[in-house]
Amino acid sequence: MFTRKFERRIYIAVAVFLFSGALGVSFGAYILWPSRREADFQPRQPIAFSHKLHTGDLQIECLYCHSQADRSAHASVPPVSTCMNCHAEVQPKDEQGNIRPEIAKILRHWESGTPIRWQKVNDVADFVYFDHSRHIHAGVACQECHGPVERMEHMYRAFGLKMSWCLDCHKREPSEGEPAFARGDATRAPIHCSACHR
Ligand code: HEC
Ligand code: HEC
Ligand code: HEC
Ligand code: HEC
Ligand code: HEC
Repeated sequence: MFTRKFERRIYIAVAVFLFSGALGVSFGAYILWPSRREADFQPRQPIAFSHKLHTGDLQIECLYCHSQADRSAHASVPPVSTCMNCHAEVQPKDEQGNIRPEIAKILRHWESGTPIRWQKVNDVADFVYFDHSRHIHAGVACQECHGPVERMEHMYRAFGLKMSWCLDCHKREPSEGEPAFARGDATRAPIHCSACHR
């Protein structure tokens, strides 16, 4: 049907088209999807919740809301009912006398019984074993791993969750008073592969 020469041109055109498409997609992905490993990741949240206000100014304990952190692998994000402990009463209004929009959103979730869909900020790779409670009981402060949370208006990921980040801390010499020090361990925590890859 086509001459050989013309056929070859079509192949080249298609190849160039596919190649630039692939390049475009991977570049777009690089820009749009921040890696789960990188620091400073800060997803948009459905409600403008401020850790600075609640933990810095109002001094509410971390465990009041993240009540599983010292008991299980996951710290857990609080359900709407925890917010309602206060916001059933605390309902600041704007100049027109309407309940402020971010508080109104909480009340709508409460009335309809639907959970608030918070976006995950920290997400370690699925093939890695990580347990909060073990770290809390070893005296590691939340801020060592999550940064200055009490100053964060909008939560962000303070450290990239790379293997070297875990290991840098685990390799440190234990300081006096830490469980590892009491046991006479040379490092702060285990560094053998099977501790984190089971
Ligand atoms: C009044 C409740 C409340 C208190 C108190 C609170 N938090 Fe939170 N925390 C939340 C909510 C709600 C979210 C989810 C929205 C967000 O990421 O801002 C969250 C998210 C987080 C996240 C990110 C979770 C993820 O997806 O990776 C971290 C880390 C965190 N909190 C740490 C802390 C620390 C540390 C403290 C104490 C200094 C603290 N929080 C106190 C309610 C609270
Ligand atoms: C221990 C009490 C307490 C708890 C629990 C609590 N808050 Fe608050 N929150 C407050 C107080 C006090 C204010 C300040 C109100 C003001 O500005 O008059 C506030 C303010 C806010 C504001 C700012 C409102 C605005 O527009 O100024 C938002 C948003 C908010 N809280 C969301 C939440 C969410 C979401 C939760 C549950 C994860 C929660 N709060 C849990 C006490 C609490
Ligand atoms: C040794 C480091 C470390 C310490 C200490 C630590 N966290 Fe985390 N946190 C992480 C990692 C890593 C993740 C991601 C876990 C995952 O994806 O399974 C995480 C996730 C979270 C989350 C998201 C929900 C979840 O459990 O996956 C919250 C909320 C949180 N941390 C709060 C806290 C609070 C509050 C404290 C202090 C009481 C704390 N963390 C102490 C490393 C730490
Ligand atoms: C800021 C310091 C620090 C960071 C960062 C840290 N750890 Fe740890 N980790 C510790 C300490 C301290 C212990 C020792 C606990 C003990 O002495 O019982 C520990 C213990 C452990 C244990 C053994 C206890 C258990 O639960 O079986 C595992 C597994 C572990 N960490 C995984 C991780 C992973 C995975 C990361 C990274 C995502 C990480 N840790 C990041 C300080 C840290
Ligand atoms: C303290 C916890 C910890 C220990 C100990 C550990 N790893 Fe990892 N490893 C991780 C974490 C966290 C990741 C995920 C890194 C990411 O998502 O970028 C990882 C990822 C990996 C990967 C995937 C490639 C990569 O870098 O993402 C390999 C392979 C690996 N580890 C092998 C090992 C071997 C071999 C050892 C023993 C010499 C070991 N790990 C010890 C925490 C650990």
